Amino acid sequence: MPTPENLILRELLGEKTGWVSGTALARRLGISRVAVWQHMRKLRAQGFAFEAQRARGYRLAAPPAGLHAALIELQLKVRPRGFTLVVLDEVDSTNDEAARQLGAGRAAPFAILARRQTRGRGRFGRTWQSGDTGNLYASFAFRPRVAPDRMQTFTLWMGVNLCELVANFTGLAPGLKWPNDIVFDGRKAGGMLTEARVDADQIRDLVFGLGLNVNGSSADWPGDLPRRAVALGELAGAPLDLNRLTAAIIGRVLLAYERFAAGEHLPAFPDLWHRYDVLRGRRATVLEGSRRHAGMVTGIDDQGALLLRDERGGTQRFRAGEVTLEK
Ligand code: BTN
Repeated sequence: MPTPENLILRELLGEKTGWVSGTALARRLGISRVAVWQHMRKLRAQGFAFEAQRARGYRLAAPPAGLHAALIELQLKVRPRGFTLVVLDEVDSTNDEAARQLGAGRAAPFAILARRQTRGRGRFGRTWQSGDTGNLYASFAFRPRVAPDRMQTFTLWMGVNLCELVANFTGLAPGLKWPNDIVFDGRKAGGMLTEARVDADQIRDLVFGLGLNVNGSSADWPGDLPRRAVALGELAGAPLDLNRLTAAIIGRVLLAYERFAAGEHLPAFPDLWHRYDVLRGRRATVLEGSRRHAGMVTGIDDQGALLLRDERGGTQRFRAGEVTLEK
């Protein structure tokens, strides 16, 4: 049952001009104008800013800076049957929470989002800085029930979809650094972490985690992170609408998952990867465990493994590893 606040938001978002009179809101919700005013006050307390004009009524002037579940839901354009989403104020890791909820039997697909994470994780167990409430920390939970080798290019496919979405949404030009970094001129703005639980040769639970620096300020980040990382808002020159972007990302991730599960990604994937790949043709070092391999990146194979041509002309394949570009 939608709350009166959510119904007011729906009316304001649905109106082309953006303006809805207090009388129309009262009539559509079946409540008094005083009650409308009281619900607007509650929305202001949640971070919404409204413009009010005697002749025109109310208009949404600014959404809240942090993640807001109803605002995301109202702006979702794609919604598979049964999909649900949760926005938590704080959690250890959205990936861990999604895995716990899958383990407890929650129906998939669903998404867990958080305004802050206390133990956000990246690849190789690294910390993912997650204290900035202007950024996106999201995990998507699925039950694909397919053999693990079917999922080899999953993160890469998600990466190209996210790059395309971010490019369309912001006008910026993101790139992908194999296997899971979304980058702009060598600075990282996003990371993906896919984790699976395998049962009897089938993937039982799949969690796709995305951390995206949206409106955080790199100047506030610790150590040498400001040199290595960047937020989309900084690149765009103005803060982005985090909730609208999140709704667009959710729609794209769900669609990309469905296409992947149906095998429909296969024809488009190689060209898309090529479009966003920032490593191809560059000299790089791959750190695999404690071993370093140097060479020229020539692309990926159809299993998503990185191809590195060494000095003697031989090609090595890497399923995992950390890539550093040579200066
Ligand atoms: C990486 O670049 O190594 C991957 C970073 C993934 C971070 C995201 S934030 C949301 C989700 N929850 C986590 O703990 N990690 C992922």
